[in-house]
Amino acid sequence: MLQGKRITLIVSGGIAAFKSCEAARLLMKAGAEVQTVLTEHAAEFVTPLTFEALTGKPALTTEWAKNPYSVMPHIELARTSDLLLVMPATANLIAKAANGIADDLASTLIAARRSPIAFVPAMNQAMWSNPALKRNVEHLKLDGAAFFGPVEGLQACGDKGAGRMMEPAEICELADALFSPKTLSGKRVIITAGPTYEAIDPVRGVTNRSSGRQGFEIARAARNAGAEVTLIAGPVSLPTPVGVRRIDVVSARDMDQAVQTELDQSPCDLFIGVAAVADWRPGAVSIRKIKKDASGHSALQDLLWSENPDILARVGERPGAPLTVGFAAETAEGATLSAFAREKLIRKHAALIVANDARFALHSEENSIRIVSASEEEHFGPAPKRACAEFIVAAAARELARRG
Ligand code: CTP
Repeated sequence: MLQGKRITLIVSGGIAAFKSCEAARLLMKAGAEVQTVLTEHAAEFVTPLTFEALTGKPALTTEWAKNPYSVMPHIELARTSDLLLVMPATANLIAKAANGIADDLASTLIAARRSPIAFVPAMNQAMWSNPALKRNVEHLKLDGAAFFGPVEGLQACGDKGAGRMMEPAEICELADALFSPKTLSGKRVIITAGPTYEAIDPVRGVTNRSSGRQGFEIARAARNAGAEVTLIAGPVSLPTPVGVRRIDVVSARDMDQAVQTELDQSPCDLFIGVAAVADWRPGAVSIRKIKKDASGHSALQDLLWSENPDILARVGERPGAPLTVGFAAETAEGATLSAFAREKLIRKHAALIVANDARFALHSEENSIRIVSASEEEHFGPAPKRACAEFIVAAAARELARRG
């Protein structure tokens, strides 16, 4: 989404300004055209030359020096930018922006803006909780500005709390998301992802080879589409997409419980069951490691199994159920794969089933999918899991819109 986008990076004077250099590099890497504007105080922390080297364009600090734009760079940049990204956004610049004060290049550009604007605050935790600052932030949000962060953590001054600037990679991800079509705006989406782990004893269990990657990409794509996303994840080692609420679970029953609690707590528009849920669990979990006896026999050989709840089917059966999308990860292709998907569509009361050949998708960066509904079938891929996720989210959003 950032490819070819003209982003004006406005850097104000805080210690986090050094992170803006890395963000500028990442935005360039994503294909954006970056023009930097520094406040006078920002130039005390990082030099204009650093940004010039990273972006290939002279960084501007004042209206009054010769620059590659017209005599009014604030107007020209306001006209041509696709996004103003204020990073770090200090309490001072936020206050000026909220109150329309325009007394230097950065603040006049903000006052003259025509494009979306996002602020990435960074300041001491006491400053971030100051009521005047809070009022200014609320003002800017009402005016349509986006805020990325801040996050909690250790601060440069030694304090701990909210006020730390987000990491550059997360900022670029959210900037990218601003340009996605908001097909799920105002919708609440719950997604399950990853494997489940069914304990046998304290050291053993039954699980599967799901990496969780496709589910996490779907969570990211739904967030980009404007949804409020809750991701209920089995044991995986993946970072949470920024802005997504994550609940970690272990077993199928934990996952089912988490899903039901979420649905009870507030209405949900779309449920996407991507998790590879274990169908069975050992009937009883031994509290001690199961040992072999003298003859080599182990109780592991005699395990009895209990059936796990079918999470997707249970969601589909609820009164006022959300639109449900399931997966069918099979070891089949072609018409057989579609037939398996159709059977699951009916059995699990799903609106859509995304079918794939698990032999191809497991632990791969790519996937090849077919989306089956009661009346249609669409094919997509092979393509990166991110692209598949966007395709799936777009199909789910269309189905939601169709059903009104
Ligand atoms: N699913 C679920 N709860 C289960 C089993 C599966 O929510 N206990 C969901 C998965 O998240 C997926 C869909 O149902 O969206 C299909 O899962 P799959 O394992 O392919 O289907 P099963 O019903 O287990 O059928 P089978 O194993 O016979 O193919």
